[in-house]
Amino acid sequence: MVTSSAPGKVYLFGEHAVVYGEPAVPCAIERRAHVTVEQRESGMSVHADDLTLDGFTVEYDAETGGRPDVEVADSLVEAGVGYVNEAIEQARDAADAGDVGFDITVESSIPLGAGLGSSAAVVVATIDAATRELGVELAPVDIAQRAYEVEYAVQDGEASRADTFCSAMGGAVRVEGDDCRTIAAPDLPFVIGYDGGAGDTGALVAGVRKLREDYGFAADTVEAIGDIVRQGETALAEGDLAELGRLMNFNHGLLEALGVSSRSLDAMVWAARDADALGAKLTGAGGGGCIVALDRTPETKTALEFTPGCEEAFRAELDTEGVRQESR
Ligand code: PMV
Repeated sequence: MVTSSAPGKVYLFGEHAVVYGEPAVPCAIERRAHVTVEQRESGMSVHADDLTLDGFTVEYDAETGGRPDVEVADSLVEAGVGYVNEAIEQARDAADAGDVGFDITVESSIPLGAGLGSSAAVVVATIDAATRELGVELAPVDIAQRAYEVEYAVQDGEASRADTFCSAMGGAVRVEGDDCRTIAAPDLPFVIGYDGGAGDTGALVAGVRKLREDYGFAADTVEAIGDIVRQGETALAEGDLAELGRLMNFNHGLLEALGVSSRSLDAMVWAARDADALGAKLTGAGGGGCIVALDRTPETKTALEFTPGCEEAFRAELDTEGVRQESR
């Protein structure tokens, strides 16, 4: 029996613009998914208590395609089971292990579908735990590649490498097209506000694409986000948190101009700014979900807790560690 964990992430800069070839900087955060895997003869059982699915246990046989018997929306179950199935397939492939079965337990403190990379963290931790259980140890960069292939398969080809690479490697990373690398970063005191909702990533990306086709300003805005990311990389290398915060504020303004913010996201961003955060912006696709602020003091978290529309506020510093084995 092996337990591995992998972190979620926020976008410090660059979501949406990354779709058009600009660089982006996701950062791993100290919120993890833990996955425990134990080999058995055949079939699979998946137990997930904290996936916002209200404790579901599924027993199924991937080969016969049986649907698990649980009382949550089909789409959620299919997505959850799809990620775990494909991750296990990757582990079997890496270990040349044929059809061995597994008991799998998922525990995650990363809100689902809120732009914090919850599915990537589960996939990365599952591949690590299952390969180790089969006696194989993969390098994080190989886990990142296999986890990307899982997301690519489950999300019908609509996956970027950002979440899976960041979760596997940890720390701050830079993503530009298929080019992913880790970059040096100082301690980043992230505070996250979560509105309890989630945006429709596909619709939001399509909305930006249309705006970019219809309006020159929108194409310029996407390029301006790219400039912010490049300046942000310099500020990161210099450990200049005040400049990072300013650039986060600019980045949020430009995302708002592209139509991907929302009332609750804006309310949380303004609450953070009023609490003297160094900076704040939405993270991920937008439309709902999470904002990320930079603040060393407790003020932003407190302000967010009193902000109507904010369901949960928590501190989650930059996590310099990516996927890791917890126990065996
Ligand atoms: O909400 P998330 O964490 O899946 O991020 C979406 C990021 C986008 O740039 C909007 C889309 C993408 O695939 O890069």
